[in-house]
Amino acid sequence: MLERTQLINRLIRENKYKSYLEIGLGSGINFREVNCKQKVGVDPFQPATFQMTSDYFFALNKETFDIVFVDGLHVAYQAEIDILNSLKVLRPGGVIVIHDCLPAKEERQLPERVTKNWQGDVWKAIVAMALNQWKMKLFEIETGIVLLWPEKKEYTIPEGGLTWDWFQKHFKNMLCG
Ligand SMILES: C[S@@+](CC[C@H](N)C(=O)[O-])C[C@H]1O[C@@H](n2cnc3c(N)ncnc32)[C@H](O)[C@@H]1O
Repeated sequence: MLERTQLINRLIRENKYKSYLEIGLGSGINFREVNCKQKVGVDPFQPATFQMTSDYFFALNKETFDIVFVDGLHVAYQAEIDILNSLKVLRPGGVIVIHDCLPAKEERQLPERVTKNWQGDVWKAIVAMALNQWKMKLFEIETGIVLLWPEKKEYTIPEGGLTWDWFQKHFKNMLCG
């Protein structure tokens, strides 16, 4: 089974999640193997529960989900919109799974696709979320998967400089998911 599918199924099993949303289905190779009571798939170009763009889906949708897999259009602005919209429909205790966050070569992250293996610049959306202190964790599997929880890391950098007190309260939280 694909590593992403294993991770998603583990999250569902361990957290007793009941509802799953996947943005961008491709061939459906992951979606078919996800074990969850309720599954919704969105893709404008593939057979899907909702055959439409993610923007259109989120504009119409009234459901909430325990886990959302963001794997649609791999350009930063769209990935960021998909993540922000996913946060709005996430149930308490839920998690967002984001694919293709760790391109291995420069040409694979160009916003215009020039390689078969293409991650686009999804990583820039991850940086935007990190700068806004969202709680995240990177898994170096496949082309990089980030888990994002609907929680902000509570810290600011002190104006007077970094102190021992600040280190003890915030250092680990700043770096770890
Ligand atoms: C990399 S594939 C998804 C792979 C799949 N999630 C998997 O795990 O095997 C990306 C998919 O995103 C879809 N897509 C492109 N633009 C989209 C959009 N605006 N909204 C939703 N899906 C989109 C494409 O049609 C394509 O099927």
